[in-house]
Amino acid sequence: MSAKAGTTNKREASGTAARPSRQINIILRNPEQQAAGGAHSSEVLGNPRTLPQSGPWSEWQKELDRMVGLDNVKELVYEIYALLQIGHFRTEAGLQAHAHVYHMIFKGNPGTGKTTVARLLAKLFQGMGLLAKGHLVEVERADLVGEYIGHTAQKTRDLVKKALGGVLFVDEAYSLARGGEKDFGKEAIDTLVKAMEDYKNQFVLILAGYTLEIETFLLTNPGLPSRFPIQMDFPDYTVDQLLSIAEGMCKEREYALTPATLFRFRQLLMQEKSETIYNFSNARYVRNVLERAIRNQAVRLLSQYPAGTPGRQELMSLRPEDIRSV
Ligand SMILES: Nc1ncnc2c1ncn2[C@@H]1O[C@H](COP(=O)(O)OP(=O)(O)OP(=O)(O)O)[C@@H](O)[C@H]1O
Ligand SMILES: [Mg+2]
Repeated sequence: MSAKAGTTNKREASGTAARPSRQINIILRNPEQQAAGGAHSSEVLGNPRTLPQSGPWSEWQKELDRMVGLDNVKELVYEIYALLQIGHFRTEAGLQAHAHVYHMIFKGNPGTGKTTVARLLAKLFQGMGLLAKGHLVEVERADLVGEYIGHTAQKTRDLVKKALGGVLFVDEAYSLARGGEKDFGKEAIDTLVKAMEDYKNQFVLILAGYTLEIETFLLTNPGLPSRFPIQMDFPDYTVDQLLSIAEGMCKEREYALTPATLFRFRQLLMQEKSETIYNFSNARYVRNVLERAIRNQAVRLLSQYPAGTPGRQELMSLRPEDIRSV
C-alpha cells in the first residue's frame, strides 16, 4: 500500500476555524464535580454521555457518536479538548500553558476502528487548533523502508514532511522491528524518533497494530514507550455492537434491515466470531457482509421485477436471504 493523504477539513477550507468557546465552564459547574472537589479531567469524564450538549464540543461529539462504542477514545478526545480550553484560559490569565505530547499507540485486532479513529482524530484536532491541516498520512513498512543505506531515512523523512500539520499513521508498526538490528526497519524507527524531536508539536505520530505484536515491539524497543504517552486499546466488538455498526452503515447507505434480517445477521456474526477467533475482522467483516447483501438484494430484485420497478420500500429492505457469509 502506498502512502495516502486523508480528508481535508471543511473548516480549513472555509477559513472559519473555531476557537473553543467557554463551554468548558458548564462542565466545571456541574454539582457532582464540585462535590468531588473538582477536576482531574479523566474523573470528570466518567461517562462521555454526560458531556455538554451544545457549543463547539457538541459538534465534535456528533462526529464521535457516529462511532459505536470506543468510550476510551471519546474520553481521550474530551480530555484533550478540555486541556486546550483551559490552556487558552491560562494564557489569557497570564499563566503558562505547556505544549503536550500527543503521539499515540493504537492496539487492537483487525477492523476495530484504528484507522478510522486516527482519521477522525486528525480532523478533530485540526478543528481544535492542535493541528494546522488535519490530514492523515497512512503508511506501512514498505512505504518507510528503503533498499540501500540512507534510502530508508530519506523515505521516512519525506513521509514525515508530508504529514506535518496532520497525523502520520504507521500501520503494523511492529514490522519495522522484524529484521532485528541489521534491518533497515530500525533506521526507520530511529528516523521517526528523531522527527518527533525535530518537528515537535507539528504532527501527531500514531503507531498501530495488533495488541500482542505491538506490546512485543514496545518491549524490544525500551526507549519507545515513554515517547508515546497515549496508548489506546481497541477491543473486539460485541455482537450487539457489530449489529449497531451494521445499522449505522445501512442508514448511511439508505438501506434498512428488517427484524428477521437482523436476527439472521446476529446468527451469522455469532457463528463467525466463534469460528474465527484469531482473525475475525470485526467491523470490516460487517461492512463486507453488508456490501455483499446489497449486491444480493440487487440480483434478487431484478429477478423479482423482470419488467417492473420495485417500490421504495423494496429498494431499501435487505432480507434475511440477502445476508450471507463472505
Ligand atoms: N466503532 C465503529 N463504529 C462504526 N463503524 C466502525 C467502527 N469501527 C470500525 N468501523 C468501520 O469498520 C471498517 C474497518 O475499520 P478500520 O479500517 O478503521 O479498522 P482497523 O482497526 O484500522 O483495521 P486493520 O487493523 O485491519 O487495519 C471501516 O469501514 C470503519 O468505518
Ligand atoms: Mg487499519
